[in-house]
Amino acid sequence: MKLRKRWTAVIALMATCAFVCVATAQNQNESRAAQQRHEAPPYWAYAVDPPAAASNAPAKPVDDTRRHVPGSTAAFTLAQIGDLFTPPDWHPAGHPAMPDIVAHGRKPDVFACGYCHLPNGQGRPENSSLAGLPAGYIAQQMADFKSGMRKSSEPRQRPIAMMIAVATKSNDQEIRAAAEYFSGLKPIPWIHVVETKTVPRTRVAGWMLVPSATSGREPIGHRIIETAANLEQVELRNDASGFVAYVPVGSIERGEALVTSGGASKTIPCAICHGPDLKGKGDVPSIAGRSPSYVVRQLFDIQSGARNGAATQLMKPTVAKLTLDDMISIAAYAASLHP
Ligand code: HEC
Ligand code: HEC
Repeated sequence: MKLRKRWTAVIALMATCAFVCVATAQNQNESRAAQQRHEAPPYWAYAVDPPAAASNAPAKPVDDTRRHVPGSTAAFTLAQIGDLFTPPDWHPAGHPAMPDIVAHGRKPDVFACGYCHLPNGQGRPENSSLAGLPAGYIAQQMADFKSGMRKSSEPRQRPIAMMIAVATKSNDQEIRAAAEYFSGLKPIPWIHVVETKTVPRTRVAGWMLVPSATSGREPIGHRIIETAANLEQVELRNDASGFVAYVPVGSIERGEALVTSGGASKTIPCAICHGPDLKGKGDVPSIAGRSPSYVVRQLFDIQSGARNGAATQLMKPTVAKLTLDDMISIAAYAASLHP
């Protein structure tokens, strides 16, 4: 009798194992299929600057004109605007005092966080918004960049290589100060999402998409085209000037269905971990109102394994079966939410 019971238990275990093993194999196949589906990282999400053309033109005279932006009494020259160790702070009253690491970084190789992520933490499409993210999450990402667990699927993407260098060279005290600062900021509406059939022609310049000199429009196709709402302001690194994201018609509604219901077991409803309004829960980050190019990069990097930290494993089942079109829809919907 005792023996029979044991056998029943063993058989039950084997049946469970068979089920799990089949499911795992199936998952692996699906994941492989997903990887094969997108051989190359989408160029519009991982905007890679063309190699600088060698120029024989005589050097231009230094332009010392002081630039201004609306709603600010500050004035900076182009050299000051491009200073990686004291980036322009156009609206100092718009955020609390920045710790040194955010305002200045540390010479020679820790660039100021505020240069790329902006003093108010809103960020740009080639990096990331940090405003309001949990401090514990920020610190963990720094650790993942440093340990090599978080990389890019596109090795030519220089901004992320610079981020990895900064994370590697900054110390615990600096990381703690930066994490507390950014997590205390309130994210503001930053991305204006527009569904459209056609988009302005764009090219990559300064690691982001900008309208081409040859004007005109083209079909959006299977892309998200995220560009500066006002390129001149963005080039001046004005942290009051956000972005427009053109997305395919119908993508927001499709994304909402995937995010809220999981799309008939294609993925997992995001609110379970990211909170009911997707604004984050505990140490799980917000995904609401953030750059859709950034969100597509993360979903793609998690699926490809380029982003592979300990907490990232929780996201693996969510992305395993997503196609690039699913990622576009999810990112379009998430970006359209209030941050
Ligand atoms: C040279 C530009 C640059 C500088 C300077 C920089 N970062 Fe970044 N950071 C990036 C880029 C690019 C990414 C996004 C990479 C990607 O697409 O995955 C990023 C991403 C991050 C993330 C991940 C955000 C998320 O939601 O997961 C954190 C956290 C972060 N940076 C913190 C910092 C801190 C803290 C500093 C200052 C010590 C800093 N960064 C300085 C470029 C920069
Ligand atoms: C089981 C919990 C869980 C579920 C379900 C889940 N996530 Fe996540 N998500 C996480 C965790 C944890 C992280 C942080 C991963 C890390 O630290 O690398 C994360 C990170 C992310 C990131 C990167 C954010 C950043 O700042 O870089 C995106 C984008 C994301 N999730 C989107 C989604 C979407 C879209 C869904 C639903 C389709 C979803 N997640 C469902 C747990 C989850």
